[in-house]
Amino acid sequence: MKVANKIQNVRSSVKANRGGSKTIGLVPTMGALHIGHISLIQAARKQSDFIVVSIFVNPTQFGPNEDFDNYPRPIDDDLKICEQNGVDLVFAPTAAEMYPDENITWVTVEKLTDSLCGRSRPTHFQAVTTVCSKLFNIIQPDLAFFGQKDAQQVIVIKQMVADLNMSLKIITCPTVREPDGLAVSSRNKYLNDEERKAAPLLYKSLLKAEQLVKSGRKNTADIIAQMKSILSTSDLLQPDYIEIVDTRTLGHIESINGPVLIAVAVKLPSTRLIDNIIVDA
Ligand code: PAJ
Repeated sequence: MKVANKIQNVRSSVKANRGGSKTIGLVPTMGALHIGHISLIQAARKQSDFIVVSIFVNPTQFGPNEDFDNYPRPIDDDLKICEQNGVDLVFAPTAAEMYPDENITWVTVEKLTDSLCGRSRPTHFQAVTTVCSKLFNIIQPDLAFFGQKDAQQVIVIKQMVADLNMSLKIITCPTVREPDGLAVSSRNKYLNDEERKAAPLLYKSLLKAEQLVKSGRKNTADIIAQMKSILSTSDLLQPDYIEIVDTRTLGHIESINGPVLIAVAVKLPSTRLIDNIIVDA
């Protein structure tokens, strides 16, 4: 496995492995790799001949009061995980390599970024689309793998790729969960014992919503009220949003008649957690 910290090195390494019908697969990450990331690497291995993992804690996508400084950066462990999982090339640039000067060019996807996480993180998605554009330009993958865990992120990225005619396909991989249902996340490390015990309530509320939809409930306000009452069984969880939206437009839905994205975000004392499921009525 090769590790490149410089853009010119990653470019030449990918170039040497491109050609013929070889498929280049990219898994963009911010490191602190866990079984969720590994599932993306495994999906990439099945569908690509040369697998690149990027590890870059992108400073621009963190808000002023968010956890950029504290975000875990266990680079040695991450490299071991990549090596053990058959990654061919790791791109781990510094912030100065990615942003040598003040960044004044941004890729903005409108509308889809106004709702859900975009409401409480107003500059987040343009930073994600910009850094992903940079990674796509540097590596020029045929496929890039993203997790359903960050449902809005992958929908926004797919829209960007379509609107800007980018020459790659985005693959969405299912959310990997702990045995008690908690979606695996690098931020779970922040949870203390009490918070960790309360955190599976997110998935519990989503499963309740799924059960209600499957049993024929259509009114989203009723379903959201029931989700809220599950989340409120712990006073450690402060809901940021509980929403049932269209899977394509992310627009609010009042009555369910087809596939919907049910998404929840909560604030705990130590961190913020998100989760979602897609349910077809
Ligand atoms: P990060 O949070 O490291 O996540 C990298 C990828 O792993 C994302 O596509 C995310 O959806 C996926 N992922 C995280 N937890 C998962 C889980 N439990 N199951 C399945 N997939 C999971 O998302 C980012 O980094 C950044 O915003 C990035 C796209 C790299 C841009 O900086």
